[in-house]
Order: sequence, then C-alpha cells, then structure tokens
Amino acid sequence: MDTLDTLKARYLAAVAAAADESALEEVRVAALGKKGEISALMAGLGKMAPEERKAAGAAFNALKDEIDAALRARRAALADAALEERLRSEWLDVTLPGRPRRQGTIHPVSQVMDELTAIFADMGFAVAEGPQVESDWFNFDALNIPPEHPARQEHDTFFLHRAPGDNRPPHVLRTHTSPVQIRAMMGQGAPIRVIAPGRVYRMDMDQTHTPMFHQVEGLAIDRDISMANLKWVLEEFCRAFFEVPSVELRFRASHFPFTEPSAEVDIRCSWQGGQLKIGEGDKWMEILGSGMVHPRVLAAAGVDPDQWQGFAFGMGIDRIAMLKYGIPDLRAFFDSDLRWLRHYGFAALDMPDLAGGLSR
Ligand code: PHE
Repeated sequence: MDTLDTLKARYLAAVAAAADESALEEVRVAALGKKGEISALMAGLGKMAPEERKAAGAAFNALKDEIDAALRARRAALADAALEERLRSEWLDVTLPGRPRRQGTIHPVSQVMDELTAIFADMGFAVAEGPQVESDWFNFDALNIPPEHPARQEHDTFFLHRAPGDNRPPHVLRTHTSPVQIRAMMGQGAPIRVIAPGRVYRMDMDQTHTPMFHQVEGLAIDRDISMANLKWVLEEFCRAFFEVPSVELRFRASHFPFTEPSAEVDIRCSWQGGQLKIGEGDKWMEILGSGMVHPRVLAAAGVDPDQWQGFAFGMGIDRIAMLKYGIPDLRAFFDSDLRWLRHYGFAALDMPDLAGGLSR
C-alpha cells in the first residue's frame, strides 16, 4: 500500500489535472466516495489497536480534509473559468446600431407617403381617410359634378355592380381623393387642415398610367385662406420634399368643377443628360391640380360658404416618387418584382422625419 504521502501527492495531482467537472467528480469518488481509497482507510480504523488508531485517525482525517479542500478549490476555479469563457464568447455590444437585413424593404410609394405626411404634419395638417369603394355622391355630386357632367366620363370610372333589381346608382372605385374633402368637412367642420393620401382608380393603362394609382389630397379651410396661402404651402412642400434649397412653381389657369378659381401647378426642372433636376433648368413638369374650394362643395359638406373659404389640391404620389427617386416606368411600381423592390425600396427602420432627414 502507498504511504499516505504518495497517496496525497497522487490525489492532489489528479485534482490539479482534472479538466472539467466530471473529471473532478471521478477523482472525488475514487478518493472519498463510499468505496473510495481514503474511505477504505477510514473503515480500517476499527480493526486497529486503540493507541495506533488515534494517530492513524488523525492522519487520515488530515489527508481527507486536504483532498477535500483541493477538490473544492479546483471546482471553484473550473466554475470561474467556465464563467469567464461564457462572458468572453457571449458578449454583445447593445450600443451598436441595428444592422438592417434588407430582407424586406419599404416600397417607394409608402416611403413617399411617409415623407409627405411628415412635411404636411409640420405645417399643421392632420391625415384624413376615406373608403376606396365610394358612393357616386361623394365621388361626384358633392364635388359639384352632377350626373350628366362630362367630367364623369373623363374620369374613366370603375362602377360596382348592384344586385339585379336594385336601381340605386352604383358605387364606384373612387377616381380621386377629393371625396375625402367632403367626408373630412362633414366629420369635423371648419376650420380644418387635412391631407388625405390613398389609392384611386381609373380605367387607364400605359407607360404613365395604371388602373390603380395614388394621390394625396390637401384641404385647408378657415376664415381668410387665399391662393397666396396655397402657393406658399405648395412651395414649402416641394422644397422640403425634393430636398433642394429652392423650387419654382408655375400656376396655370385650369378648370375643375370643385374649385374656383382653379390652377394646375408645374415645377421647374431640367432633363440635362437624361437626369432630372428639380428647381433648375427650362422645363416644366405638371405635378398637381388645385384651387379655391367651390362654394357649392363647402355647402354640400355642411360648411357655410359665407363664413369659410380655403384651398384644395390633389397631387399624384407615384408621379412625385418617380421624379424624386429617378424611377422611369410607373408600371414597375405594381409588378411586385423582388429585384425592383430591393433596388428601389427603403430600409424598414428609417422613418422619414424633417429633423433627421427625409430620405437617408
Ligand atoms: N381631384 C383632382 C384630380 O384628380 C385634383 C384636384 C384636387 C384638383 C383638388 C383641384 C383640387 O385630378
């Protein structure tokens, strides 16, 4: 049998060499377990003579305590090392900026809607909404377009079927966002300042027309709102939206049944080298229709035209998105081609705002 010293040396070496918890446990069982070597020595004490037993017992106990202490120390050291390793491998810098995966992107139309909402919100306009399936009263009559008016034909309207025998006028897919003017004024009266972005529908399809497209309506009614306010609001908007220091707008006299006077608005631009630049050059591009809200429209919406007046405008969102982001073909907007979406889409976490920049 080994002397106690070699026994001790052997176990202390084994403890030091144990690379993990389970190796350490094997050493403990071999030394101090029920059938362990040290335990066997202790069990032998009973057979010894009393004087021998006393000295041997003390020596065995000291050996047992020493090995036990070494096991504990080693166990603690292994736990520390394991924790160190976890801390080293699992650390995460939560102050790093998010990494956009670009799996999904924001469609240019959604991006532009967010941008123009931010700009008009800054000028005190709230967002109003209305249904895409609209009654012909909201889409036409209330906007001073009576049943036989030629404008109804010009709008290339989609009509919805009524049940056979139901002779009420059919609902339509709204041909413009102007019916939201009526709904907003009926809902909240005057004064009012709203924009209404959304989908509109006309039977039309070529390189610059799709049967569904997007408009944003603007409406500002108060005691003394004039064309001058309209001009300022539109210039402010264009400057902010196109992110240029100045823009020039041209108001052309026009006609809409729901405004009087009416104006179509063009923006100064250049197409030099096939590249569009807003705010300079000698070309003009039509971007919207506008005017002073017709008294009959105010009256239809329950607003007294002797007390209130104001402007309205309607702008093509797809058109200004194409202008701003250099997108050549309108139809591609609605093809759902993933390559196109990845190319023209926007990072999902960049919400446009005036302070942080509209399009980063
Ligand atoms: N609703 C008109 C259109 O779709 C645009 C417009 C809106 C014109 C408001 C004047 C005032 O063409």
